[in-house]
Amino acid sequence: MIIRQETTSDASAVYELVKTAFASAEHSDGNEQDLVVLLHKNPSFQPALSLVAEENGKIIGYILFSEIKIGEKTAIAPAPLAVLPEQQRKGVGLALLQEGHRIAKKLGYSISVVLGSETYYPKAGYVPASRFGIVCPFEGVPDENYMALPLQEPAGDWNGTVTYDKAFFEV
Ligand SMILES: CC(C)(COP(=O)(O)OP(=O)(O)OC[C@H]1O[C@@H](n2cnc3c(N)ncnc32)[C@H](O)[C@@H]1OP(=O)(O)O)[C@@H](O)C(=O)NCCC(=O)NCCS
Repeated sequence: MIIRQETTSDASAVYELVKTAFASAEHSDGNEQDLVVLLHKNPSFQPALSLVAEENGKIIGYILFSEIKIGEKTAIAPAPLAVLPEQQRKGVGLALLQEGHRIAKKLGYSISVVLGSETYYPKAGYVPASRFGIVCPFEGVPDENYMALPLQEPAGDWNGTVTYDKAFFEV
């Protein structure tokens, strides 16, 4: 398996992959593939952080980190992360996260924030975002499901509420 930056010719495969992966997901609004399309058109989109996992010429996983704001500061958020059902639980998702973190660190991003499974994301190093003073903008999200991973040392002061790209509210 290789992990590489997505190219324009991957668009339809990525769309179908995200749709298929979320069709059987525990939490889904069924629009994740359309969120990907919208995010590609916005300034929060970072081509270097739109990654595919490819095996034998077939795309089996996808991750998109887009820019968010924590107060006035810029950070990133992985959403969505998707792996084809028949390829799940083989380490593809974690490999996509780790490669994204490596690239983001090199690009100078300082922290990644995620809303997701409290049993999955800690495997990639995420801890509750509240530890850094980061506030989730959505009501009713359990503390354990809103997580962050500092990408630089020291972790720094991040007090503030997160603002997401408008695409997240348009799908
Ligand atoms: C969530 C998802 C991306 C994980 O990808 P994956 O390639 O299957 O994950 P990995 O193989 O890298 O997972 C490694 C570990 O996480 C665990 N894990 C996998 N999926 C999990 C899930 N949905 N919830 C909790 N733990 C999970 C695995 O059991 C494994 O744990 P272990 O090493 O202790 O055995 C994939 O299941 C998926 O595409 N799901 C549908 C879309 C989705 O829900 N995306 C996440 C949105 S927040």
